[in-house]
Amino acid sequence: MAATRSSDDGIDSGRDNAGAREESLRMVSSAPMGDEPVSDEELRPHALDGFIGQPRLKAQLQLFLDAARKRDVPPDHILLAGPPGLGKTTLAMIVANELGVPIRVTSGPAILHAGDLASILSSLDTGEVLFIDEIHRLPRAAEELLYIAMEDFRVDVMVGKGPGASSIPLTLPRFTVVGATTREGMLPAPLRARFGFTAHLDFYPHDELERLVERSAGVLGITLGPGAAAELALRSRGTPRIANRLLRRVRDWAIVHDLGVIGQKDVHDALALYQIDSEGLDRLDIAVLKAIVTSFQGGPVGLNNLAAMVGEEAETVETVCEPYLVREGFLVRTPKGRVATRRAWTHLGLDPDMDPADGAERDVSKLF
Ligand SMILES: Nc1ncnc2c1ncn2[C@@H]1O[C@H](COP(=O)(O)OP(=O)(O)OP(=O)(O)O)[C@@H](O)[C@H]1O
Ligand SMILES: [Mg+2]
Repeated sequence: MAATRSSDDGIDSGRDNAGAREESLRMVSSAPMGDEPVSDEELRPHALDGFIGQPRLKAQLQLFLDAARKRDVPPDHILLAGPPGLGKTTLAMIVANELGVPIRVTSGPAILHAGDLASILSSLDTGEVLFIDEIHRLPRAAEELLYIAMEDFRVDVMVGKGPGASSIPLTLPRFTVVGATTREGMLPAPLRARFGFTAHLDFYPHDELERLVERSAGVLGITLGPGAAAELALRSRGTPRIANRLLRRVRDWAIVHDLGVIGQKDVHDALALYQIDSEGLDRLDIAVLKAIVTSFQGGPVGLNNLAAMVGEEAETVETVCEPYLVREGFLVRTPKGRVATRRAWTHLGLDPDMDPADGAERDVSKLF
């Protein structure tokens, strides 16, 4: 079991890293870029009230925290699951703030041995929040230690080494684990079962992102004209981190062009310079769609052929471009390969019923 898990982890972290390298070059990447981990901080809301969107999740979390406060006990453990950049870390900080307790921050990859986790756990104060980011990457032994700590508030501390080593049970004060994961499916069931509340973060609709952009503009002292926030929201792929990044790039544009107020057209022009189009697609997304449509008559085309056409690694196309293209209905994955949808054709300004190579009518009935 342990062997299977670690080999899965190996494959997965390889994919993540390759994806992450490529992602870090993209303006529309949902992973943090450059100094963003620092600048993310200034835009983080500190209270649940300031957290934009996700109304159901907010209401559930509010109730959950209010009940704990009324009972005057630390709340049950909380799991935050969802894609990068949607607000998991932000919510973890908010939970601690709302409860008025300190927060200890660690992450799955930072814990190399069970002992690392044991020493964090044994130094926690009553009621403290322990935030474990990327909790699906905890080593197996640490995971097992965490089960017991979360359920029984107890940790076995190993004293000594070799045959003389013994374990001393240590009772922990009641605390709250807030775990965050971008891959809920990789969490073993026993660990998942120890969370009393799981929040699934979804991509944000345009109107929520528009409010988020307006809020961030206020924090950064940027004045947006009519339609500017909506224009940014449209291109942000449902992701607050991308919305905030695009806003900062538009601010650069405004500074260089001496603009007091940023209008809708300024957003349009600034983002055109970065090759981000009206649907939030960037150069690589468009290259992928164009290759399917113009070189393969709309598909189906195998991943490797497609990647070769756009001069990228297959893995990059699969992990970096495709998820958003599939989610937005530009591309479908079929057993025979990737197929561009009608939406992709029209987005490229082409007629899906015409073959772009010779203008002849195509038979699209067999494609899907
Ligand atoms: N609902 C929201 N309202 C306001 N700002 C938000 C919201 N969600 C996210 N943000 C902002 O977006 C940025 C990224 O959010 P955050 O760091 O919480 O994402 P994450 O889910 O933890 O991502 P990762 O999986 O990469 O760790 C932060 O600057 C944060 O302030
Ligand atoms: Mg985070």
